[in-house]
Amino acid sequence: MARGHFISFEGGEGAGKSTQTERLANALEDRSIPCLATREPGGSPGAESIRELLVRGEVGRWDPMSEALLHFAARRDHVMTVIEPALDEGTWVVCDRYTDSTIAYQGYGQGLEISIIEDLHRQTVGNLWPDATIILDIAVFQGLDRIVSRGGETHRYEKMEIDFHMRLREGFLKIARQNSKRCVVVDAARSSDAVHDSIMTLIAQRFGM
Ligand code: TMP
Repeated sequence: MARGHFISFEGGEGAGKSTQTERLANALEDRSIPCLATREPGGSPGAESIRELLVRGEVGRWDPMSEALLHFAARRDHVMTVIEPALDEGTWVVCDRYTDSTIAYQGYGQGLEISIIEDLHRQTVGNLWPDATIILDIAVFQGLDRIVSRGGETHRYEKMEIDFHMRLREGFLKIARQNSKRCVVVDAARSSDAVHDSIMTLIAQRFGM
């Protein structure tokens, strides 16, 4: 059986990743492609427990290295128990965030060396990178405004300073430039329908659907 494809969504806060992850997974299912929508940090019972340590509590509760180690502990569990078994059985995996988020948030955002993050990736999940990564790009203030208008509780990262969010956006755009075969930047300031249509066109071109 052919291995499934692995697609990740990336971007800053309020870019609409969760919505677009869900919409892409549903659209693939509609085309009779077996598909799993999942997220990081989280996606497996162990990783969801670690997520609680990361998204709750004081903004400064972890130093960047501890924080990266927690993300990779969660990621290894998610990859071993959920992502790899699904890909092996021919299921496509659509993941809301993956290692590019560690590079953007703990690297460009919090100052941890990118080479350390790449080493941690190799040590914990080997060479598993997505076949395609969609980076949803939106102006920082517009993304944060969406979070505010959504209402409800904000999580730890959403409370971080504006400069941090600015570094993230630049970080994701740099990741896209450096990995131009894998990554594509999509303008996320548009309506959910328009963004979804662009994504479907890209996925159809990339995977010949
Ligand atoms: P989200 O589910 O709202 O995207 O929340 C997860 C938060 O975790 C988000 O603010 C980004 C952050 N994060 C990191 O800092 N590093 C990582 O490696 C991942 C996967 C997420």
